[in-house]
Amino acid sequence: MPEDSMDKPNIVTCTAPVNIAVVKYWGKRDEELILPINSSLSVTLHQDQLKTTTTIATSRSFQEDRIWLNGKEEDINHPRLQSCLREIRRLARKRRNDDDPSLDSTGLSQRVHICSVNNFPTAAGLASSAAGFACLVYTLARVFGVEGELSAIARQGSGSACRSMYGGFVQWIMGEKEDGKDSLAQQVEAETHWPELRILVLVASAERKPVGSTSGMQTSVKTSSLLKHRADSVVPGRMADMIEAVQKKDFAAFAELTMKDSNQFHATCLDTYPPIFYLNRVSQQIINVVHRYNRHYGETRLAYTFDAGPNAVIFMLKQHVPEFVQVVQHFFPPETNGGQFIKGLPVNSAALSEELKQDIGLEPMPKGISYIISTKAGPGPCVVTDPTQHLLGSDGFPIGSV
Ligand code: DP6
Repeated sequence: MPEDSMDKPNIVTCTAPVNIAVVKYWGKRDEELILPINSSLSVTLHQDQLKTTTTIATSRSFQEDRIWLNGKEEDINHPRLQSCLREIRRLARKRRNDDDPSLDSTGLSQRVHICSVNNFPTAAGLASSAAGFACLVYTLARVFGVEGELSAIARQGSGSACRSMYGGFVQWIMGEKEDGKDSLAQQVEAETHWPELRILVLVASAERKPVGSTSGMQTSVKTSSLLKHRADSVVPGRMADMIEAVQKKDFAAFAELTMKDSNQFHATCLDTYPPIFYLNRVSQQIINVVHRYNRHYGETRLAYTFDAGPNAVIFMLKQHVPEFVQVVQHFFPPETNGGQFIKGLPVNSAALSEELKQDIGLEPMPKGISYIISTKAGPGPCVVTDPTQHLLGSDGFPIGSV
């Protein structure tokens, strides 16, 4: 190989999805390895609406590992970032030694440049660390030629990231081993399994930054006896019921379990001492709207779930989306015109009956919701083959330099 082409960086770009838990992970039994006190289950959201894109380059000429996130250089020494880098390099070395000592090992000693962006605003308060660490680990694995189970490495970046390693419906089995080898994500059903299922993210206008999940769950583990009861006595049965509801595509069962689990998670936050409040007035209004809507129809057509912030994620079947969007626009009159209010999958217009408005019967909250992202279940991480999509140039530095 000529000298100059050996110095040319090897560049790989991948994308990874956001996931939303319907049985929540909250609490660790091991902070370092990120091992949870209960199993959890999530739906992977479609990357057409929400994704992280990561480009990684390796080159002999790089002096050190470096990372740029959303246009800004960040500290590569972040411990969780270091765990992921170390684990992938370890697996790559192991593969070289065990399987094929002739494997080209030059890349292994080379430094990496990492550049990552989200296609949604960080300010929207959507969990970006899951997509971010899933994308980092998936891309690193491609760069260093590592194959096979990667969710245990993504887990060490952020717990919920292990579930973003697969598409569709994904469980994170808590495992029992001390070394965490059996604490893995596993696909329950693929993204094609339930095509009628739709997901709307209602981005609530938050006033302040809530307590982060990592520190929030630490305080909950120390102080909440409800959390212990939840992990020991509620979640095991709920996981089994949720898997059954997903497999049977039983929306009413899925919806009820999802809402109860979200409510119990927020109850454990209230049981934490001092208490943590993630839901605000807008979130509470959304909860009321959903229950009153379901009562109006005498069946469970909508489900809400909330993570560590005020944004709501609403599940429903495709045929109910247009009317529900009208309900949201009526009870949370937007600041912007209708077109801007809904992003993502197109939504048809629909009428809103007086009876439904009256049955919901709440006082509208103007500007309570900034916008809606309309999406569905989607695939796991993907490799981007089009080289024009790389975020790092042929010099290995961010394009349109930051
Ligand atoms: C409420 O995965 O962000 O979204 O493991 O400390 O990085 P760390 O926490 P993180 O916690 C997510 C908590 C949650 C529920 C869930 O996604 O299961």
